Amino acid sequence: MRGGRRRLRSSWSTWPSTGSSALGCDPGAGGLFTSGGSMANFTALAAARHRHCGDAVAAHGAAAHPAPLRVYASTETHHSIHKAAALLGIGRANVREIPVDAGFRMDVDALVRAIEEDRAAGAEPLCVVANAGTVVTGAVDPLAEIAAVARRYGLWMHVDACYGGFARLAPSARPLFDGMAAADSIALDPHKWLYLPADCGCLIYRDPEAARPAFSLDADYTRVMQTEPAEAFAFWDYGPDLSRRFRALKVWMALAHAGSRAVADAIEGNLDCARHVAELVDASPEFELLAPVELSIFCFRYLPPAARGGSRSEAVEEELDRLNERIMLALQQAGNSYLSNATINGRFALRGCVLNYRTTRRDMQILLDDVRRAAEEAIEEAA
Ligand SMILES: Cc1ncc(COP(=O)(O)O)c(C=O)c1O
Repeated sequence: MRGGRRRLRSSWSTWPSTGSSALGCDPGAGGLFTSGGSMANFTALAAARHRHCGDAVAAHGAAAHPAPLRVYASTETHHSIHKAAALLGIGRANVREIPVDAGFRMDVDALVRAIEEDRAAGAEPLCVVANAGTVVTGAVDPLAEIAAVARRYGLWMHVDACYGGFARLAPSARPLFDGMAAADSIALDPHKWLYLPADCGCLIYRDPEAARPAFSLDADYTRVMQTEPAEAFAFWDYGPDLSRRFRALKVWMALAHAGSRAVADAIEGNLDCARHVAELVDASPEFELLAPVELSIFCFRYLPPAARGGSRSEAVEEELDRLNERIMLALQQAGNSYLSNATINGRFALRGCVLNYRTTRRDMQILLDDVRRAAEEAIEEAA
């Protein structure tokens, strides 16, 4: 029993580093669990800001840093990055949004131009945030190219992999994540694609010691007396929390029970479901895909007969927006299938995200039948 408890304790404290090796990270990588992805993103930006500004800002506030700071992130980036910039005194307006390509991935040439412009104007580029699975379409930014830019300009590279990061475990998606391990920090949400209940985010630092000065404060009662690495790892020196709940237990239990192979298979199955919807949508004149399917998110819309084929006027586009919104509400009310909404290139999209290990291809076929039924109802009601 004693040995068992020791093993459990050591696995909960080292999971972010063993988990990180499954994500391709260096053996020295490590980190901590957080309440969720927003907090992991916030913590990463705090570490990045401290590395750039040093102790002056930590001690005297943002006014102690003379030049405006810049964080770079694509237009598709989750708003928790903007929120973190606001809370950290970097400023929401100093998150420079970089345009994306047709696949919703960051345009790396535009990133370089923005950095050069800002430097010439006297601003200080501090951090680039890359997405490994954007919240709206699931796009993965060109991580290796962004890592090379970060290295060239001395920027902290953070990857928001909250939604998509665990897809690296699935062989069919793995190449998308090349370059992720070069990042200074990676945010993940085990409460998304590790299938766990809410309240389990995770932040992995490539070099935890690079983050430590941002959080470590000498308080006598938190002095570490233990020497065994698992016992001596002082979480509070790597993030904002001191007292914390035992989040690692659910991660450990899920992996101990199912095994990482089963998780990888389940993620592969989710990816297959999303690709299957994309095939069905592409094959049917009733539907139109509005974004490429990169991971397990799919965005599409229903087209009534009059809107099929050929070009459409703005008035028809607006009518399609309204119809698809009614379809989504009807679907949600019927309660058999669930889709949320997204705006893709200004148009209303039905958005699905497959994140349940029980979901099958058959569910995808049922979903599209449900959408057809909801569309008929919505059209009849409007007539
Ligand atoms: C890409 C991305 N980043 C960050 C977050 C925030 O995660 P959380 O809700 O765990 O704070 C989300 C949530 O959907 C997300 O999709």
